Amino acid sequence: MSKKVLVTGIAGFLGSHIAERLVELGYEVVGVDNLSTGKPKNIKKIFDKIEFHWMSLEHFDIENKDIDIICHQAALCNVPHSMKDPDGYFENNVAATHRMLMEARKYNIKKIVIASSSAAEECISPYGMSKKVTEDYSNHYRNLYDMDITNLRYFNVYGPRQSMDSQHSMVIPIFINKLLKGESPTIYGDGEQSRDFIYVDDVVDANIAAIEGDHQGTWDVGSGESTKIIDLFNWIKALIGAEVDPIFTKKRPGDPFETEAIVSGRYWQPKTDMSDGLIKTIEWWKNENV
Ligand SMILES: NC(=O)c1ccc[n+]([C@@H]2O[C@H](COP(=O)([O-])OP(=O)(O)OC[C@H]3O[C@@H](n4cnc5c(N)ncnc54)[C@H](O)[C@@H]3O)[C@@H](O)[C@H]2O)c1
Repeated sequence: MSKKVLVTGIAGFLGSHIAERLVELGYEVVGVDNLSTGKPKNIKKIFDKIEFHWMSLEHFDIENKDIDIICHQAALCNVPHSMKDPDGYFENNVAATHRMLMEARKYNIKKIVIASSSAAEECISPYGMSKKVTEDYSNHYRNLYDMDITNLRYFNVYGPRQSMDSQHSMVIPIFINKLLKGESPTIYGDGEQSRDFIYVDDVVDANIAAIEGDHQGTWDVGSGESTKIIDLFNWIKALIGAEVDPIFTKKRPGDPFETEAIVSGRYWQPKTDMSDGLIKTIEWWKNENV
């Protein structure tokens, strides 16, 4: 009999890609999303193959759903917004995840994969703190309550369906959107800051391998290479054939200078070359948004 996976945040960028792959692989999928940033069109393709609950995780009841595995993607993930609303990030990201862990314990769901973030590493924003605290809870509960929990620290994920208001690693959608329109995007700081970008399909692979294998603990999910924002701008500009320059403005509070995933000894390897990933993402933007 196929296993049943609860995907939280299923209508979001990552949740929808993970759910699609799970359906392809023959899993039964239950999804929950309050559509705060997620979009129904993200799950249109699989809507008749999943059980969808339009509600907040805080009110979602796991009882009688026969869930075998939880893949937890739901979160607020806007670093600048979190600086203004630390309470909201605590409630939505920490308290809601804690409640879900307790529900999992109550209904004996052992296997849980949780979306964390590279922001948990430096922990310089309420968003980063919410992810770090969640990691800490799950690391303790793994031992205390014998739960099989994997934390995946995503770096800057990009790819089709990433919306500009998901606000996490939105630099790629913003650059593509602006450059396709011949407009100048804004760069915060001098562009020398760098990020580890990873294509969405590779993040889906990391989730599936965590669901299907025994990889407890906290793992970086990035490419292992850091790209300067100014180089990223020039790269996308060349791929699109745009002829504009960026507007430089002051650095944003809470933004780290550099992120780069630790890749040694990990259980899964990314496969997507960044040029290919950017080309696929640009093509998606051309078809969907312009
Ligand atoms: N995209 C990235 O680059 C990136 C990087 C690091 C970590 N992450 C993490 O990955 C996960 C998915 O991010 P994403 O980029 O797909 O963001 P997203 O905003 O597209 O998806 C999050 C989804 O969760 C839903 N949601 C939020 N709070 C909820 C709640 N309380 N109850 C029910 N649904 C709720 C939203 O409506 C949305 O559909 C998040 O946990 C995020 O912190 C993402």
